Formats: sequence, structure tokens, C-alpha cells
Amino acid sequence: MQFPDYRPRRMRRTEGLRRMVRETRLSPDNLILPLFVVPGTGVEEDVASMPGVRRASADRITAQSSPAFDAGVPAVILVGIPEHKDAQGSEAWSDSGVVQRAIKAIKRERPELVVITDVCMCEYTDHGHCGHLTRGAGGAVEVDNDATLELLARESLSHAKAGADMVAPSDMMDGRVGFIREALDDKGFEHVAIMAYAAKYASAFYGPFRDAAESAPQEGDRRGYQMDPANALEALREIALDIEEGADIVMVKPAHTYLDVIHAASQEFDHPIAAYHVSGEYAMLHAAAERGWLDLERAMLEALVGIHRAGADMILTYWAVEAARRLRA
Ligand code: PBG
Ligand code: ZN
Repeated sequence: MQFPDYRPRRMRRTEGLRRMVRETRLSPDNLILPLFVVPGTGVEEDVASMPGVRRASADRITAQSSPAFDAGVPAVILVGIPEHKDAQGSEAWSDSGVVQRAIKAIKRERPELVVITDVCMCEYTDHGHCGHLTRGAGGAVEVDNDATLELLARESLSHAKAGADMVAPSDMMDGRVGFIREALDDKGFEHVAIMAYAAKYASAFYGPFRDAAESAPQEGDRRGYQMDPANALEALREIALDIEEGADIVMVKPAHTYLDVIHAASQEFDHPIAAYHVSGEYAMLHAAAERGWLDLERAMLEALVGIHRAGADMILTYWAVEAARRLRA
């Protein structure tokens, strides 16, 4: 039998050789940790569908943010669960709201940790939709795009005032990046960056998050504003729009079912690209590992390196601390 001269296996023989030819290097620098902030004081509680994730009140949030920073994770993103929900979601822009208090607590303990905030209405509204709700033809619920922009700008300003470094609108309303940019600039927050959830799909993989954030819609679904999973070209148009409107970072979400979109976006744009490895993606690997069906640590690193290899510069992941510790070891 005639072998070719090039034998790829020569470079896989030892870990030293494998390290030399490794194409993608995941670093703690690439990771962002999402944190859920709940009302009250002294609260730290498990999320049943997300093993390892703990919701915390603002006064306890540093028990998670500080270890993340110390493990080498440069940033956290905060999701707030308010005391009271109402039709407008008015606690979203309360200067004494859960997220606003958490930002200050984090900045007191680790001023260099980058604090990003998830900007959306679904956690704050009693109906669970991502904006101002109206009734369309036939009585179906509908989110009013332009009325929502005003609410998102108020929420963003309140987060900026509390000391957020970056706001991350996740609502998928048209024109919100430009609207928020203008509102921030008008009030002297030119330095506050925007990470746009630019291509956010109407996905089944947000299930556990909606438990954790108590943000499932009471009626209807989000397909009238989040993207159809079948569309990739549309994702590139969404990303182009958000860049035009002033986004500093553009995100694709979820990650694993949209690796082609992440890759296309990284080829097409020179902006930093983020990908969100979402709650359902995290939960299903945990569930399989619990049954002994896969090795969780290996699955975690393979999942994250794959997203990075596809073209994501940064990854929002509930594993940020575990992965950072493992990558530094
Ligand atoms: C808020 C928001 C969602 C997620 C991040 N921000 C949920 C949704 O759109 O219903 C999902 C993140 C995850 O599943 O981990 N709009
Ligand atoms: Zn929302």
C-alpha cells in the first residue's frame, strides 16, 4: 500500500505537537458571564433548570461577579427580575431597581470588571412581552415597535447613570440601537457602549432562561419580533443595520444552531462578534451529563471552542467561570 507523504496524524501524536498546530485558542478574555439579579436582600437561590446558576439579590451579586473577575473573565451581563411587574415594565428604569443597585455593588468591589446590562422589557412587564403591548387585527397581541423604543431608551439611560459600561438591547425592535445611541449621547453617556442582540432568533432554547427570569409571555409568542430560525441572509441585514446605527458589538443568539450565521457574520463584518450560548444549550448538556451520557467538562470546552472557531470573538456563557478556570489551569 502506497502512503502519501503528508501524514496528518504525525502532528496529533503528543499534546506538545497538538498545541503547536492548534488553530483556535479560547481564552478567559473571550468569555462573558450572565447573572440574574432578583429582588430582596440576602437572596442566593438555585435555578432548577440551570444547574450551577444562582440567582442573587443585588447585595449578594458580588459573590458571583468578583470570582468571575478573579478567574480572568473580563465582563458580566446583568438580567433583572423586578419586585413588581406592570403593563409598562416601569421598574426597568427605576434608579433604585435591582440591576441599577447590582451595577453599583459590582463596581464598588471590582471597578475594572466590565458591566453590561441586558436591556429588554419582558422581565419587567406583567404580560411578558419585550415591549409595549397593543392588540392587532383580530385581537391578537402585538408589540408596538416605536412606543417600545422610548421605554428601552429610559431603561438604558438608567443603567448608564448607575455606572454600566455597556447596554445590550435584546428586544429586537427595529431602530432601537440608533434610538438608544442618540438618547445616551444626548445625556452625556457617549462613553457607554452598545452590544446589540442583532440576530436573535425566536428559539425554543430560551426555555430555562424564561424560568429563571420569569419572563415567558402570558399570551402569544415572540415570533412577531424575533427572527425566523430558517433565515441567514436576514441575519446579515439585521447586523448591517445595527452597525450602521452605532452598535459597538453585534451578537448572534443562540450559538450552536446558528454557527453558519456566526461564521458568515465574521467574514462579512469587521465589527466584534458575540455569540450567546443560551440557557437551553447549557441545560441540555447538563441533563445529558447527569445521566452519564457525556463528560461535562469535555463537552463544555468543545462547545465553547466550536463557537469561537466559527467566528465569535466573545461568548456569553453560564460556564464562563468554570471554563476560565479550566483554561488558565
Ligand atoms: C430577554 C432575553 C432572553 C434571553 C436573553 N435576554 C430571553 C427571551 O428572549 O425570551 C435568553 C438567554 C438564554 O436563554 O440564556 N429578551
Ligand atoms: Zn425580552
